[in-house]
Amino acid sequence: MFGDPVVHSLSPVIHNFALNWLGLDYRYLPFHVTRQRLPEALQGFRVLGGVGLNATIPHKEALLPLMDELSPAAVRIGAVNTVHIQDRLVGHNTDGYGFLAALREERPHLPQGVKALVLGAGGAARSVIHALLEAGCETIFLANRTEDRAVALAHFFAPADCDRRIRPMALNVDRLPWSEVALLVNTTALGLHGEMELPVSLHRLPEDGFVYDIVYGSQGTPLTRLAARNHRSSMDGLGMLVHQAAAAFAVWTGQDMPVAAVKAHLLQKNRIV
Ligand SMILES: NC(=O)c1ccc[n+]([C@@H]2O[C@H](COP(=O)([O-])OP(=O)(O)OC[C@H]3O[C@@H](n4cnc5c(N)ncnc54)[C@H](OP(=O)(O)O)[C@@H]3O)[C@@H](O)[C@H]2O)c1
Repeated sequence: MFGDPVVHSLSPVIHNFALNWLGLDYRYLPFHVTRQRLPEALQGFRVLGGVGLNATIPHKEALLPLMDELSPAAVRIGAVNTVHIQDRLVGHNTDGYGFLAALREERPHLPQGVKALVLGAGGAARSVIHALLEAGCETIFLANRTEDRAVALAHFFAPADCDRRIRPMALNVDRLPWSEVALLVNTTALGLHGEMELPVSLHRLPEDGFVYDIVYGSQGTPLTRLAARNHRSSMDGLGMLVHQAAAAFAVWTGQDMPVAAVKAHLLQKNRIV
């Protein structure tokens, strides 16, 4: 794992548990790599015989031009979170897959044919929008504090969104189409440290509206707790985290990650705060 910062990443715990479980002779290590030294770090890791790596903030977009080949998902999302090192460097993106795989475990009928409201237009929103488009979401209201960023993201996806399903807008709680959406997704960084200043109006969602916070916590998140108080079903981002890791694991090892055991390990060991 290359990141800056990288120290709080759960990826080493996830992958090393799965490697041990399957008896595979690899180790997954976190490396603090600054933006400036990414090309050198990649080259060094390759020379030392690394078989693959994940990238997190701030490297996901910077890796694109350093790859010899990109998966279709990496091209469409515009970012790489998984590198497979063979004769050539192949860049993948497993975040959108992880988002959708976790959602389908909880709500198999979503998001096909429904309207979704996505809060946030940062790096994680890219993968979420990609997944929602691919899975046949009818309309994606994309609301961000900085409206220009939502507009720019909609513009980025315009080639894959011929029928203009993405509607960028400002994150203005009074103007968001709460009553129309079957799925609310939080991709903002809010809630990561237990805070909840996100302007939401969950009681205005339809009664069967579903709340998906891609942030995670051992006791849920401020948003999933608020959903419960408003009698709306919800899930947090732990499943997404594990499923994106499982897809990367399959790329590197050709094996299926024991997803349920990994999730139980993360929760039992109190790895999630
Ligand atoms: N479960 C998983 O597997 C998974 C995977 C990836 C990311 N995540 C989580 O997703 C979150 C976002 O990550 P990211 O990479 O997309 O970060 P990012 O690129 O920095 O984007 C942050 C987003 O949060 C918004 N935001 C920040 N502070 C806000 C505030 N006070 N009020 C309203 N909006 C605010 C930003 O709006 P502006 O544009 O206006 O600044 C932006 O849309 C993080 O908590 C991360 O842990 C989870």
